[in-house]
Amino acid sequence: MPEENQNEAVAAPLATIASLNQHEGKPVTLRGWLYNLRESGKLLFPIFRDGTGTVQGIVPKAAVPPEVFERVRGLTQESSVMVTGRVRADKRAPGGYELDVDNVEVLQRVSEEEPFPITLKEHGVEFLMEHRHLWIRTPRQSAILRIRAEIIKAARDYLDDNGFVLTDPPILTPAACEGTSTLFPVDYFGDEAFLTQSGQLYIESTAMALGKVYSFGPTFRAEKSKTRRHLTEFWMVEPELAYATLDDLMVLAEEFLSFLVQRVLTRRPLDLKVLGRDTAKLEAVKPPFPRITYDEAVAMLNDAHARGLLEQKFEYGNDFGSPDETYLSSQFDRPVMVHRYPAAVKAFYMEPDAQNPNLALCVDVLAPEGYGEIIGGSQRIASYDLLKKRIEEHHLPLEAFSWYLDLRRYGSVPHSGFGMGIERAVAWICSLDHVRETIPFARTLNRIYP
Ligand code: 4AD
Ligand code: MG
Repeated sequence: MPEENQNEAVAAPLATIASLNQHEGKPVTLRGWLYNLRESGKLLFPIFRDGTGTVQGIVPKAAVPPEVFERVRGLTQESSVMVTGRVRADKRAPGGYELDVDNVEVLQRVSEEEPFPITLKEHGVEFLMEHRHLWIRTPRQSAILRIRAEIIKAARDYLDDNGFVLTDPPILTPAACEGTSTLFPVDYFGDEAFLTQSGQLYIESTAMALGKVYSFGPTFRAEKSKTRRHLTEFWMVEPELAYATLDDLMVLAEEFLSFLVQRVLTRRPLDLKVLGRDTAKLEAVKPPFPRITYDEAVAMLNDAHARGLLEQKFEYGNDFGSPDETYLSSQFDRPVMVHRYPAAVKAFYMEPDAQNPNLALCVDVLAPEGYGEIIGGSQRIASYDLLKKRIEEHHLPLEAFSWYLDLRRYGSVPHSGFGMGIERAVAWICSLDHVRETIPFARTLNRIYP
């Protein structure tokens, strides 16, 4: 704040829209942008936004100097402004407050010749994605990004407060984790390296060092999938625990997810309101979550097919497709944990079920309301010999996994972990149609701009 404005600043201290409740009946200065302007006779209704929310201002012609009235009247969408006014509680206002505007100082007025491209009318998704750097200013998109931040913070808080140590795995890696077909290659000083698909193998080693660990970072999949659930770059939070079984992992997954949802409900109610989210559905998300086996899930799918609810007949032994997951997850009011898939459709590192070695001790957590898989995890193979055999069966380069096999040479223990894709969790919690709106700049099969 420049020196000469200090007196004025004391009279109308800086405030954010989210904190207007602390200034009821008092003058404040907001720094933000014009979102919209309505005119009704001798009244102007500018809506301002400042990154923390939006607030409607009221400017009666009779209440302000003529030049202020004209300045507000001439404002264009997304012009940057400093606004002073008095905060007034109003039950009808979405945030509970309105602003009786005294003055508006314009920092940069957007010209009529080049208006802000994203108007209040409908735009196509391609156009919006092309203008993503501007689209994120609109109330819905801003609300989603604030909820994303809240989910990330909640995930970290939960793990930090429950004895997990954050250990950051490398992003440049020499080998695959989740299968070789989906790797992004990188030239590493003449050698071929890859962008990581998951921190898992590395945090298995930090778990053997520290007990309970997690990683949180970007992961990459060169999948040629164009679904509403797939990004090529996404953020994954992965807890990994020494001395933990599949059952322990399922308990962690339900507590962790419930914590995230309840945190968003308590800390981001206004943003959920902006999105029109049915919060009753989120309130139901509390432990325990239903647990069903892969076999039980298949029986449900067959039954749905027989009743004409699912087009495709499900072949036992396959992994579930999107329509299958959508159907399964829509059968429950909270996330459902599907465990013990056929080992053949899952990753090489999963511990087989002692009762039936054709099954893997793994779990996929499917979010309700048709969202499908948001968490994938498993108990890991503890036996050196079995792990080596699996690496060979999957035609993976044994030398590259030598260090990973060391974890089974030196004090191997049962251990388990899972990965949750942040964007899938955000899409579900915000009730969005597509993961492209859950991250500031989505990377998909056909988009790497802006
Ligand atoms: O099921 P995935 O492939 O599991 C793993 O990567 C394990 N190594 C994790 C572990 O056990 N530590 O991926 C985990 C989660 C999925 O459930 C999903 O939420 C998300 O990551 N995910 C994606 N999100 C967006 N776009 C994609 N292409 C994704 N692929 C996986
Ligand atoms: Mg998975």
